[in-house]
Amino acid sequence: MNDRDKQLREAAYKEVEKHKATVEEDPFRLGYHLMPPVGLLNDPNGFIQFNGVYHLFYQWNPFSTGHGAKFWGHYTSEDLVHWEHHEIALAPSDWFDKNGCYSGSAIEHDGKMYLFYTGNVKDENNQRESYQVLVESRDGYTFEKKGVVVELPDDYTAHFRDPKVWKHGEYYYMVVGAQSKELTGKVALLRSIDLYEWEHLGAIAGADMGSLEDFGYMWECPDLFELDGEDVFIFSPQGIEADGILYNNIYQAGYFIGKMDYENVRYNHGEFIEMDRGFEFYAPQTTLDDKGRRILFGWLGIPEEREEDHPTIEHKWIHAMTLPRELRVRDGKLLQLPVDELKKLRRDEVSYPDVVLNETEQAFVGIEGERLEFELELEKQPSGPITIELRNHASIIYSPENKRFTLSRISFVDGKTIEERHCQLEELRNFRVFLDSSTIEIFINDGEEVFTARIYPDIEEKSITFKSGQAASVQLRGWMLY
Ligand code: FRU
Repeated sequence: MNDRDKQLREAAYKEVEKHKATVEEDPFRLGYHLMPPVGLLNDPNGFIQFNGVYHLFYQWNPFSTGHGAKFWGHYTSEDLVHWEHHEIALAPSDWFDKNGCYSGSAIEHDGKMYLFYTGNVKDENNQRESYQVLVESRDGYTFEKKGVVVELPDDYTAHFRDPKVWKHGEYYYMVVGAQSKELTGKVALLRSIDLYEWEHLGAIAGADMGSLEDFGYMWECPDLFELDGEDVFIFSPQGIEADGILYNNIYQAGYFIGKMDYENVRYNHGEFIEMDRGFEFYAPQTTLDDKGRRILFGWLGIPEEREEDHPTIEHKWIHAMTLPRELRVRDGKLLQLPVDELKKLRRDEVSYPDVVLNETEQAFVGIEGERLEFELELEKQPSGPITIELRNHASIIYSPENKRFTLSRISFVDGKTIEERHCQLEELRNFRVFLDSSTIEIFINDGEEVFTARIYPDIEEKSITFKSGQAASVQLRGWMLY
């Protein structure tokens, strides 16, 4: 560890101490989601299960609630529910990462944990440089930077970042999010036998490749993995225009289903599908655990989407991680469900097996408050719209007439405007809602669609009410979560 590293770490810990009370006093602090101790958290990084323990790192700016020279913060857990916060894993202390230890991934090799990340550098003329850096860890808690292992290949601008590494056959492969010299989004593939020497094989997918035409100017945070017999590619493209109810956030996160052709260095894929229909979701990353599950964390935030207006900023922190989600592929679609372990948080179960919703708003004892889960199951398709009002601030609406599921909330920018996000849903069979002080996650039809968002209701508002335009028979269950 160099002197600069020590100084940066000390300064970061000082910042945590200085603002601890202010941060902790925030009523919008979350009960069961991962957050930064102070400052700004963004992408999940280096997600891995190592020696039986889940490690999740995160992009962290300790010094302000804006973006800057990122550190890697570090959490671990044995069950994906209870997490321990650790010492800083990486600080932007070297010439090759002085403007940020940007996003990356983890892999195990010969009993050691290896991290790959992007060293972000701005030179004296504010020109960007990008280096892919290797880090070694014997124990998973102390880290040694091994230096730059990938220099920028010729074909791209310096928007070349977020390495995700996996093993296939005898080789290690790395995908990197990239921008071509024509300023189009691409994903680059590299190959190595030993994790140190890397060969650039070329772009495997991108705008103007295969069936894809114009598809944004930069692809961030790529992740490619095999699941249920398909090769799934997750990424966060920038520069996609809104199209009706699609792509309504500034940047998207979504996936293709396809086949990775290692021989011809091509990823052949179907159409792009947004992973989340809510307001805040970006830069997700997955890992495979020892139960064979593909688990995903996303950033419960979006870059440059009115970040400075989140009310938590007054309390010196911003953003969180989503809940961990287990992925599956069914009928060409990615399903996402909260990992089973989250059921450990359930307390005080209430069950209403025979509810008839009608035009009168109904509340149910035990289904109200700030930190809870509830689940609604329909016996048959409703004939009128179902509406759930949440804490007088957000609402969930399913309209069978136009087969549309909607999440609306009051904007945190002006505290007045009602904003909506939608998805098309042929039928509504069930959904689960997780509320945690200032977040909402909705999992519809066993994970077919997900909505994730921040919400900032009045602290005193705890009520949740249900109604339906036409009588609808439903089953309701609910739990406090802690
Ligand atoms: C995505 C991203 C990555 C980058 C990191 C910097 O949110 O922009 O592309 O590595 O955040 O914090």
